[in-house]
Amino acid sequence: MCKADGPETKKAKTGIAATLARPNILALHPYRCARDDYSEGILLDANENAIGPTSLPTNDIPQNDNHLVLERYPCPYQIPLKEAYAKYRGGGIGAKNIFVGVGSDEAIDLLMRIFCKPGEDMIMTTPPTYGMYKVSANVNDVGIVEVPLTPDFDLRIPEMLEAVTNKVKLMFVCSPGNPTCKAIPLSDVITLAESSYKGIIVVDEAYVDFSKEESAIKLIQEYPNIVVLQTLSKAFGLAGIRCGFAMGREDVIQLMNNVKAPYNVNKLTSEVAVNAMKNTDVLAKNVQTLLEQRDIVAKELEAMKDIVVKVYPSDANFLLVRLTKLSKEIYKKMADSGIVVRYRGSELHCEECLRITIGTADENKAFLALLKKTFEELSA
Ligand SMILES: Cc1ncc(COP(=O)(O)O)c(C=O)c1O
Repeated sequence: MCKADGPETKKAKTGIAATLARPNILALHPYRCARDDYSEGILLDANENAIGPTSLPTNDIPQNDNHLVLERYPCPYQIPLKEAYAKYRGGGIGAKNIFVGVGSDEAIDLLMRIFCKPGEDMIMTTPPTYGMYKVSANVNDVGIVEVPLTPDFDLRIPEMLEAVTNKVKLMFVCSPGNPTCKAIPLSDVITLAESSYKGIIVVDEAYVDFSKEESAIKLIQEYPNIVVLQTLSKAFGLAGIRCGFAMGREDVIQLMNNVKAPYNVNKLTSEVAVNAMKNTDVLAKNVQTLLEQRDIVAKELEAMKDIVVKVYPSDANFLLVRLTKLSKEIYKKMADSGIVVRYRGSELHCEECLRITIGTADENKAFLALLKKTFEELSA
């Protein structure tokens, strides 16, 4: 089981690291996940796909032309994977428009390294949003301009455009949002792309397969200032292989490929990812199952009038739920009892909120039962 044992999530205060490291690194608050505290049981905390993977690696080591040749480095270019992904996603993109990385987290970091001068340039984010934008910005000594979403989790476009300066090189638009679960309409992305803003709009579509809103990929042909991030970690059920994509105009993607480590995507990952592109019918079936489960869980939660104030509408594989009270205590007690969700009550506009990944039918039932029981015990 994966449990943080301390040092990697703590700041270095003493020793050679503390005397030599860059000040922004010493000040860093590393990314924290619920799994730093709880890593066993029913895991509904990280928006993975509990149904399972859409593909597997080749399970043998044949000594013929097709074997994986693991003693050799992988191909730095990953053309077959890019071609298969471009074909699957459509929108007029080709292999030259795709960067493949170690999850979309690698792309987030690379974009900042490429476009933001440390100590000088900035990114814009719209809290509440995905925590890695801030962590990557801090690692790269890049400032952050925050323009909060409305309490209904819509972009405030006039305020965003007012807050940009020529130092803001990247604007992160998370759609569907994490933790908001709400998709941003493509028309908003177009408004930003056509505005006076001179930087790049990064549309993070980690959860796009669960949404009715179309992908922004189709805008890339028209707008040179849009980059779209996607991942195999969510709908494809392949968080364990670490494979994500950035898609944009050739000039941007070329820079990403120039800056990445040469062999960033390993052969096992690329094998499974290419196989996944052959199994998109499994993907569609699993997404459908999760969407049905999402509706069931949302309805059950809405019926718990004493416990739940609001279930936010969801375009993703998770729900954001506001409880009447005691959300943090409930989160902790449930995790101690073996069901881990994510406490989001400290995020802007998310007071008393839990974020719940939709699991299998059995997991969801167990979650709903434990939520009821825990609430009753804590309220007694
Ligand atoms: C909005 C968003 N973007 C990106 C990621 C990172 O995905 P990956 O596993 O591809 O690094 C996540 C993961 O939770 C996410 O929620």
